[in-house]
Amino acid sequence: MENEFVLIIDFGSQVTQLIARRLRELNVYCEIHPFNKVNDEFLKKISPKAIIFSGGPASVNNVNAPTPPLSVYNLGIPILGICYGQQIMMKMLGGSVISGSGTSEFGKSYINASKEGKNIKFLEGLFLNDRKEEVWMSHGDHVASIPKDFKVYGISENAPFAIIGNAKKHIYGVQFHPEVFHTLNGKLLIKNFLKLSNFSFNWSMKSFLKQAVDKIKNKVGRQTVICALSGGVDSSVTAILLNKAIGNQLKCIYVNNGLMRKNESEEVLKLYKNHYKLNLIEANEKNLFLSGLKGIKDPEQKRKIIGKLFIQVFEKHALQIGDVSFLAQGTLYPDVIESISFSGGPSVTIKSHHNVGGLPKKMNLKLIEPLKELFKDEVRILGKELGIPNDFLERHPFPGPGLAIRCPGEITDKKLDILRNADSIYIQQIKKHGLYNKIWQAFAVILPTKTVGVMGDTRTYDYVCTLRAVTSSDGMTADYYPFTHEFLSETATAIINNVKGINRVTYDITSKPPGTIEWE
Ligand code: XMP
Repeated sequence: MENEFVLIIDFGSQVTQLIARRLRELNVYCEIHPFNKVNDEFLKKISPKAIIFSGGPASVNNVNAPTPPLSVYNLGIPILGICYGQQIMMKMLGGSVISGSGTSEFGKSYINASKEGKNIKFLEGLFLNDRKEEVWMSHGDHVASIPKDFKVYGISENAPFAIIGNAKKHIYGVQFHPEVFHTLNGKLLIKNFLKLSNFSFNWSMKSFLKQAVDKIKNKVGRQTVICALSGGVDSSVTAILLNKAIGNQLKCIYVNNGLMRKNESEEVLKLYKNHYKLNLIEANEKNLFLSGLKGIKDPEQKRKIIGKLFIQVFEKHALQIGDVSFLAQGTLYPDVIESISFSGGPSVTIKSHHNVGGLPKKMNLKLIEPLKELFKDEVRILGKELGIPNDFLERHPFPGPGLAIRCPGEITDKKLDILRNADSIYIQQIKKHGLYNKIWQAFAVILPTKTVGVMGDTRTYDYVCTLRAVTSSDGMTADYYPFTHEFLSETATAIINNVKGINRVTYDITSKPPGTIEWE
């Protein structure tokens, strides 16, 4: 029987795992391997049923540009090259790629089908009624010429070879990213590609759960694991998953670092103690964290300090528990990819997420990160599979460094209090208007700027609060939420009237990219 899986060759794209994720959604198993591990012998050994080349930050025109082995094209299986993957494919097969001004496109773009593009299986269901396809681009270079046996199937304003392929050999290349949420028919395109290999589409999250439990059991044996519980979805799913795998070998630690939202610690502790009856230690370390962050303005430094203090606190408690070997963390794929490359490929660092890049090198505990390959919404599906209540799973994500990265500039107790109050009013407003579940993540940010205002005939000189709300499916790309003006003005008024210390409210309408969701 043929191997029912797709090999994704990673060239270092920020969104390589999104390809894997789309395949999981389509119930197809896949593996990601960095380009430099893929050679003839490897291909023969794993024998995939289809191959996808990811995007990547390099230019194919550079010396030593990441390259797959030439033999991939002779395997006789479908291949899809995405962005850099398309460009390297063209370069290797006799086409060319140009760099320089006028070749780049970032964000939303539209593609028209060529005459040939209207009649191929790969594009079935796309370009219906001569409609343009809305796609997400993120490229500097573009393909300038294609080999003789390839055809152009789609064209965008800045990418004359937006979709190309050899329909006989089932080798295709796309300049845009079909794996991201904002390419509207991206999943359909990937499904069409998989259909070319006759996959049976029967992999599921149940299979993932079973594999994850087995992996944890094998790794841990009879040893003890401590788990960092933050109250968020990720750490909760991690803890419940570990509990299922190793039962009372798991000890949970909740760190109150003073960077939580209003009433959060109380609510979270009640939930864990009453609902889950988890073996829980409460560590009150507000002073440790706030003194460690005193005077620190740089976002990367904040993240690293917080990461280091977290580990210090865990190690302290681990010592008290005694004989602990592992630390479990709810690290997700977006945390990993924006800090280091998941598969060891050549990605660029955007932010050091506190639970990855911030880890001290000399750590006495080994890590268990069972959610490392998953995205937020997949974690929710896994949570459902584990029987965790919906209203808990639907909570908006909250970052490990907490309010520290929503307080650009120096962090003070006073600013944190102002931020907590503003954030709480904002979230109440969103819930009151029935918008909470329509928004992927919403929060307030306190800016390090004071502005002049006038309230009740008096001059004020107070902080600016910015509101952020985004739609997303995975946190990798995002759009701002289109609140009505009425909602925004009602919320701004509620905040200014009720939060001492804020006299101006703004709304952030930046998408990701080019922005990120958090401000730091
Ligand atoms: P960005 O700001 O990178 O955020 O667009 C993407 C998602 O990740 C969350 N985030 C973090 N989560 N540790 C975390 O656990 C971190 O250091 C961290 N930084 C950002 C962010 O809230 C958003 O959901």
